Amino acid sequence: MDFSLSEEHLMIQEAARDFAQNELLPGVIERDDEQRFPTEQIKKMGELGFMGMMVDPKYNGSGMDTMSYVIAMEELSKVDASASVVVSVNNSLVCYGLETYGTEEQKEKYLKRLASGEIIGAFCLSEPEAGSDATSQKTTAIDKGDHYIINGTKNWITNGNSAEVYLVIAQTDKEKGHKGINALIVEKGAEGFEIGPKENKLGIRGSDTHSLIFNDVKVPKENRIGEDGFGFKFAMKTLSGGRIGIAAQALGIAAGAYELALKYSKERKAFGTEISNHQAIAFKLADMHTQIQAARHLVYKAAWDKDQDNNYDLSGAMAKLYASQVAMETTVEAVQIHGGNGFVKDYHVERLMRDAKITQIYEGTSEIQKIVISRSVLKD
Ligand code: CAA
Repeated sequence: MDFSLSEEHLMIQEAARDFAQNELLPGVIERDDEQRFPTEQIKKMGELGFMGMMVDPKYNGSGMDTMSYVIAMEELSKVDASASVVVSVNNSLVCYGLETYGTEEQKEKYLKRLASGEIIGAFCLSEPEAGSDATSQKTTAIDKGDHYIINGTKNWITNGNSAEVYLVIAQTDKEKGHKGINALIVEKGAEGFEIGPKENKLGIRGSDTHSLIFNDVKVPKENRIGEDGFGFKFAMKTLSGGRIGIAAQALGIAAGAYELALKYSKERKAFGTEISNHQAIAFKLADMHTQIQAARHLVYKAAWDKDQDNNYDLSGAMAKLYASQVAMETTVEAVQIHGGNGFVKDYHVERLMRDAKITQIYEGTSEIQKIVISRSVLKD
């Protein structure tokens, strides 16, 4: 077993780290404060190949493996989780979903532009009454022969306004339960498709989260992904990979807060010495370092499983469950190590602490990950 990163992975890590320091760090506090979307930064990430990292180059992707993706996600998330969630949704949910299950026409028409970062996409599953309980979709997509008519509301949609392409999960035949659900590609500007107000969030405030309203939106049949009734499985399969991306985001948030706390503890003096010389602080750093390394191993294992074509439902859920818990715990400790400075915006750790919370909620709450993990464990 080899725990070292390859030359290629090290290069990607360095490129993502440089980008995060040079392009994401400047203005990150202001973007969070003003809830401003990182438009320029996302455009540049598209040019560098970060928006379609795992997509085949023939569809304008970078043709990299999942390992490269999680390494990049960690580095970007150390600095700006608002930007990294845009990267994550575009890569793991939208591009992956279209490349794996889309038709050749859909790939030509949508994937190429999404993978190059020319446009970004959104994944629309959650509803006011169907967040965790994803089979209870109220949004309908009624079959009208050569097209569907969508009606309903989606909630908490990442890239809600900034996206151009939306993958919408909706119920076609209620009688069939989850087997009556479809996934449809909806373009921004479609008649009857309205973008609701932007959510004012605790964290990842630079990303735009909206509700979406569908009023008799007509979608051609060729925009359905997969066979009739494949929508729920499409969502589950896509989310399984998405959870690896969010686990890597959580890891990055934790590692970013830890690095800041480590640096601060060697500079800040109290009781006549640097605070890192006090065991109360040194032991916190020891715990944080250990937790982060354990989370990283889980994230890498899940990415490796995906790259090996192993089933990654379990390893992805474990990585997300643990890394998001570590993100929450270590960011709280990073604020504590910073003392009063940790409570003010200039030191970044309060933002990382706020950003950490969403990693325990989106793409399946921690409780959902435990359902996935316990079902897998009990089945054996
Ligand atoms: N891969 C393939 N198929 C799967 C699957 C997977 N990972 N998980 C479930 N399925 C299939 C099952 O095999 C079953 O099919 P059959 O009937 O043919 O056997 C079908 O789907 C229904 O499965 P369950 O009976 O297990 O469904 P359930 O109602 O018990 O729900 C759940 C399972 C795991 C709780 C699921 O509902 C779930 O994951 N919920 C959370 C949804 C979620 O993550 N929401 C987040 C929104 S997206 C987001 O946050 C994006 C963003 O903006 C950042």
